[in-house]
Amino acid sequence: MSNIQISGAPPVGLAGRNIIVGITGGIAAYKAPALVRALTSIGANVQVVMSASAHQFVTATTLQAVSGRPVRDDLWDEGAEAAMGHIELARWADAIMVAPATANFLAELAAGLAGDLLSTLCLATDAPILIAPAMNQAMWKHPATARNVATLINDGVGIIGPGEGAQACGDFGPGRMLEPDALVGALEKVFAPPILEGLRVMITAGPTREAIDPVRYISNHSSGKQGFAIAAAAARSGADVTLICGPTNLPTPQGCRRIDINSAQDLFDAVQADLPGQHIFIGVAAVADYRPLAAAEQKIKKQVRGSNTMTLELTENPDVIASVAQAANPPLVVGFAAETQNALPAAREKRLRKQLDAIVVNDVSQAGIGFNSDHNAATLIWDEGELALQLQSKDQLAQALLDQLVRIFVTRLALPNHASASI
Ligand code: PMT
Repeated sequence: MSNIQISGAPPVGLAGRNIIVGITGGIAAYKAPALVRALTSIGANVQVVMSASAHQFVTATTLQAVSGRPVRDDLWDEGAEAAMGHIELARWADAIMVAPATANFLAELAAGLAGDLLSTLCLATDAPILIAPAMNQAMWKHPATARNVATLINDGVGIIGPGEGAQACGDFGPGRMLEPDALVGALEKVFAPPILEGLRVMITAGPTREAIDPVRYISNHSSGKQGFAIAAAAARSGADVTLICGPTNLPTPQGCRRIDINSAQDLFDAVQADLPGQHIFIGVAAVADYRPLAAAEQKIKKQVRGSNTMTLELTENPDVIASVAQAANPPLVVGFAAETQNALPAAREKRLRKQLDAIVVNDVSQAGIGFNSDHNAATLIWDEGELALQLQSKDQLAQALLDQLVRIFVTRLALPNHASASI
């Protein structure tokens, strides 16, 4: 039986790393020198690579000064190529961060184009690529950009941000490049130790649909974003992830095994089938507590005469997470609670009633968090404490949650009945 080592606080690992900072032509390029400065000040070796249009927004002289290296911007620069050719440069990189990344750059990368030095490096490298998009909010929301982003995520590219707020063009909305600190944090995570290595993690996400008839169902507003973010973070942290999700259009996070389901009963069956050997179960899915007693085989017709009310008889669904917690050899079980009033007392009661090791409560009556938003704020509750997870992106909250779970349950996860059960 092998012993699993899980570190509580992952060390920062950028010192001595070779980072290519790619800069494309957007107003947010004015933040690039601060990003480069922040990276060099913690010991990273930074090579700046600019696209042609980046020169309209920030000077190569400034970037050379803060990086301590001549800026590269030309695929055909004989002098630079003689010192380190672009393939060598692609191999030199431990990571590439493109900040800001314009809509045009996202499209080029999604299409696999290699028209300049930066896009060529991105194609030629084996290193992780992180992209910090920055563009007008309408351009970010455009279906073509959404398609390109989905393609890049599928290709394993990390998309960091964008943030939301006032834009240089006068608009308000998503499309602002994240601040240099957040970008450095994202790079640090790339080199963080795989804190969940050797562990199997099952995550449920999204809504369920409970059929009324062949064309109608009972459901809720869950988009799956929070559960998918946790699945992505767990996979990045080295876990073997099974993601069981209700209907959603979200792309499958890199490295996760995905099982699509519709109803609570489907979810129950899928969870039970794969439960043996799991070390951690995180129930983020918004599961319908009730379903119609009997789904009609044909579409229910509207009553033309008679009563103007209709009664739907419901029956209780199986409680998926409670069944996991009550299994013979349960994994560490973490639930979510979506509450609209008395959030903390309600969640405390729910955790005890369902016999969960921990519960994460989000007050979904608050605007801008919870169902279908890109942000969340929550409180993690376990036997011995409670911890507020401040308002942040769902991606950030996912990582913070996993870090905390590992910290709190480090001993428990190393117990033979849990972490090392099948290793
Ligand atoms: O998907 P997003 O748009 O990103 O939104 C995220 C979210 C708001 C859905 C998420 O953060 C969240 O709160 N998920 C839990 C929602 C919920 O159903 O809460 P609940 O209080 O009804 O359920 C408590 C726990 O029991 C949950 O872990 C749930 O998965 C589980 N449950 C509930 C009923 C049931 N029949 N089986 C279950 O396993």
